[in-house]
Amino acid sequence: MSDSASPLNEPAANKKPSANREQWSSRLVFILAATGSAVGLGNIWKFPYITGEFGGGAFVLIYLLCIASIGIPIMMAEIMLGRRGRHDPVTTMKKLAKESGHSRSWGLLGWMGVIAGFLILSYYSVIAGWAMAYVPRMAAGTFVGLDAEAVNSVFSTLVSSPETLIAWHTLFLFMTMSIVARGVRGGLEKAVTYLMPMLFVLLVILIFYAMDTGHFGQGLSYLFNPDFSKISTEGVLSAMGHAFFTLSLGMGAIMVYGSYLPDNTSIAKASISVAFMDTLVALLAGMIIFPIVFANSLEPGAGPGLIFKTLPLAFGQMNYGTFFGTLFFILLVFAAWTSSISLIEPAITWAMKTFQISRVKASVTSGMLVWFMGLFTVFSFNLASDVTISSVISTKYGEFVILKDATAFDFLDYLTSNIMLPLGGLMIAVYAGWLMKKEYSRDELSIGLWFPIWSVLVRYVAPVMVIIVFLNAMGVVAFVRSIMGV
Ligand code: PFF
Repeated sequence: MSDSASPLNEPAANKKPSANREQWSSRLVFILAATGSAVGLGNIWKFPYITGEFGGGAFVLIYLLCIASIGIPIMMAEIMLGRRGRHDPVTTMKKLAKESGHSRSWGLLGWMGVIAGFLILSYYSVIAGWAMAYVPRMAAGTFVGLDAEAVNSVFSTLVSSPETLIAWHTLFLFMTMSIVARGVRGGLEKAVTYLMPMLFVLLVILIFYAMDTGHFGQGLSYLFNPDFSKISTEGVLSAMGHAFFTLSLGMGAIMVYGSYLPDNTSIAKASISVAFMDTLVALLAGMIIFPIVFANSLEPGAGPGLIFKTLPLAFGQMNYGTFFGTLFFILLVFAAWTSSISLIEPAITWAMKTFQISRVKASVTSGMLVWFMGLFTVFSFNLASDVTISSVISTKYGEFVILKDATAFDFLDYLTSNIMLPLGGLMIAVYAGWLMKKEYSRDELSIGLWFPIWSVLVRYVAPVMVIIVFLNAMGVVAFVRSIMGV
């Protein structure tokens, strides 16, 4: 790792365990890296499309509630565990458990994170590939003057070609793994310093476009006017799962970033800034996309292709649209890039330590594995789009649908966002809130009078909410209600 390019260049000067581990050069660099991890496809691609699938306002409200009451406290907990452990997630959890006299099986939490990161990256890279594929199309002016139907068909042609998707998936994964292999985060973080604000400026420009569509009010009301009759149990589960996904929580990514954090940095301030910026980007994306949807009589629930069917329409119609559109997709790829690096980082640090192999070897092997896994997602949009699973549990009290006609991509997304990340987050909350000695967490967080509030949130609010949403999604709540006749 070259010193000049790395933010991790200041040896720690403290007495904590593994004190000589490299560290971020400043709090700002940590916030940038964590924001780089959080802001990604989840905000611009996934948030709008799942909001559309689950009917708008009520989903957004639940998502915002989850960010505030579960996301921020768990993010603080995850960063805190990382900083105290100063290792890969598996070793960190084992070490902390030992420190507080608990079972080393807590290492399993780290393990689940490593696997979740693999699985998420496998489809993340395919979708980032779509965004990359749009760069040359935008630059060539493909969308200029096209109507909704024509834009739709550009998207369908892209996803129906496995070769094209594989090519872009390969390129994106190669870009990710080559950064990870070098271990040089600095170069990319420097880029993030400029590119993130640029992405933000472009979103603001697009908001002006959205205001001009004549359907801005309708878009806002769709996003912010909750209609609870539209929200399903699965919608609530997805809102919670997405809060974890978008903040990169529950799988050790933020834990690894926390492990490089200097001791004197305020974890609370950092967590709140990251969550704020992340939420802002997602809401801006929604405020841009839905007015375009309504102005063109498109379907809000169009699924994963939503931004690829709406934004090009806007760029195709606006002044300098070719320029802004090209820049937008380039910036989206960058946002995805800084997230994908953090998705695989837990696996890399773990593999290096466990197998005593070099960073390069760990990166090449994981890259190949992720690449193969990615083929499932590629094919679920074309060759294998009709290979689906449904899991419907029929009881004499009724049917409980957990997955309906899910393709491989749907399944991977459901398993990771809706199950693995919240489960990981739950375990983090339980560990930090119940098992870690209070004196340690109080010392790490140093939030004075706020400590009891954080403590209630991680001990009670977050775990109880996650458990209720899980039970609800498994049909348990409906089952109990139907037995009791309420
Ligand atoms: N937060 C990223 C996004 O919203 O695109 C995705 C992500 C990155 C999830 C890192 C989990 C993670 F550990």
